[in-house]
Amino acid sequence: MPDPKSRFKNVDDSPLDGLIGESAVMRETYQLTRKFAASGASVLLMGETGTGKELIASSLHQLSDRASGPFVRVNCGALTETLLDSELFGHVKGSFTDAIRDRTGRFEAAHGGTIFLDEINSTSLTLQVKLLRVLQEREFERVGDTRTIPVDVRVIAASNCDLNELVAEGKFREDLFWRLNVLPIRLPTLRRRGNDVELLVKYFLKFYAQRNAKQITKVEPSAMQALLDYAWPGNVRELQNYIERAVVLSEDEVLEKKLLPAAVTGNTEAARSTVFRPSDDESLIREFVESHIGKAAVEAQDLHKQIVDPVEKELLKQVMAGCNQTQTKAAQRLGINRNTLYKKLLEHGLAKQNGKS
Ligand SMILES: Nc1ncnc2c1ncn2[C@@H]1O[C@H](COP(=O)(O)OP(=O)(O)O)[C@@H](O)[C@H]1O
Ligand SMILES: [Mg+2]
Repeated sequence: MPDPKSRFKNVDDSPLDGLIGESAVMRETYQLTRKFAASGASVLLMGETGTGKELIASSLHQLSDRASGPFVRVNCGALTETLLDSELFGHVKGSFTDAIRDRTGRFEAAHGGTIFLDEINSTSLTLQVKLLRVLQEREFERVGDTRTIPVDVRVIAASNCDLNELVAEGKFREDLFWRLNVLPIRLPTLRRRGNDVELLVKYFLKFYAQRNAKQITKVEPSAMQALLDYAWPGNVRELQNYIERAVVLSEDEVLEKKLLPAAVTGNTEAARSTVFRPSDDESLIREFVESHIGKAAVEAQDLHKQIVDPVEKELLKQVMAGCNQTQTKAAQRLGINRNTLYKKLLEHGLAKQNGKS
C-alpha cells in the first residue's frame, strides 16, 4: 500500500524487482518509474554514478508494453564518436576503413523494444544532431548509406551529470535535451537514502555470503555505524564492492569493521593519503589564517568568508590548472560533485556562465 503522504496516492510505491531501499526518496522513484513505464515517451535518468540508473531503465522496459521486445543498452561514454555512430546506426561496407561488411546498428536491434542510451552526456554535438532526428522522425540512415530506415523504439537516456548545466555550457544541444527530458527521473544519492544503507548492506552480505559459501550473518555494530556515516561518493556500486570484499576477506561469522576500507572507517592515515593532503603546507595555512584573523578581527563580521573564500579560490585555480582546466577531472581531484565545482567557479569568477573557463 502506498504511504498516504506520498506524492501519488494511487501508485504502488513498493520496491521494484531487484531494487533494495524503502526510504521516502526511493519510494517516490518507484512510483515515478511505474507511472512512466506505461508511456512511450522518452525518459531521462539523472543521477550520480552507482545510483541505479541502469536498474531503473531496465524496470521501465520490463513494466512497459514493450517488455516482450528487446532491451538494448549502449554505453555512449565507452566509444569514440565514429565507433558510436556506427554502433548506433549501423554502416555499409566500405563507409570507413574498418567497415569490412554491412552492419546493423543498435537502433535497428532495438526495434519494437527499448534502447537505453547510457552516459548520453558524453556524446558529441554532431551525434546529438543525429539522435535528435531519430527521436523526432523515428527514422535514420546507416553510416555511408542513403536508404532511410524507419524504427519503432522507446528511448531512455541516462546522464551522470546535470544536463541543464551542459546545455548552459554549450556542450549539449538544448533541443535534444528537451526531447529527452519529457519524463525526467532524478535518482537520489545514497547519502540521501538514510537507513537504506543498512538494508543494502544486509542484502549484499547475504548475497555474497551465499556466493562465497560463507556463514557470515551479522555485522559488527561499529561497522554498521561507520557504513551509515560514510558519504558514499560511488553510491550503491561502491557499497556493493566493499561488502563483497569484506565477505571474501572475512574468516568469521561477523562482518568486522577492520575489514572495511579506511575511507569508510575513518582510519584516517590511509584515507587521507588518497585525498588532498596539505601536509607540508600546513604551516603556511596557519600563517595565512593567523595574519588574516589579525586583520579581519577589526571588522569580524564574516570571518569564515574572509578566510575561506581566498583559500578556496586559490585551491580551485591551482587544481583547475593542474587538470588542464577540465572540470570533470578537477571535481574528481577535489572530491566534489562537478556541478558544485561549476557553481564555485562561477562564484569566484573563474568560469563564464555560458562558456569554458
Ligand atoms: N537500489 C538498489 N538495490 C540493489 N542494488 C542496486 C540498487 N541500486 C544500484 N544497485 C546495484 O549497484 C550497481 C550500480 O547500479 P547501476 O544501475 O549500474 O548504476 P548507474 O547506472 O547509476 O551507475 C549495480 O550492481 C546495481 O545492481
Ligand atoms: Mg551505469
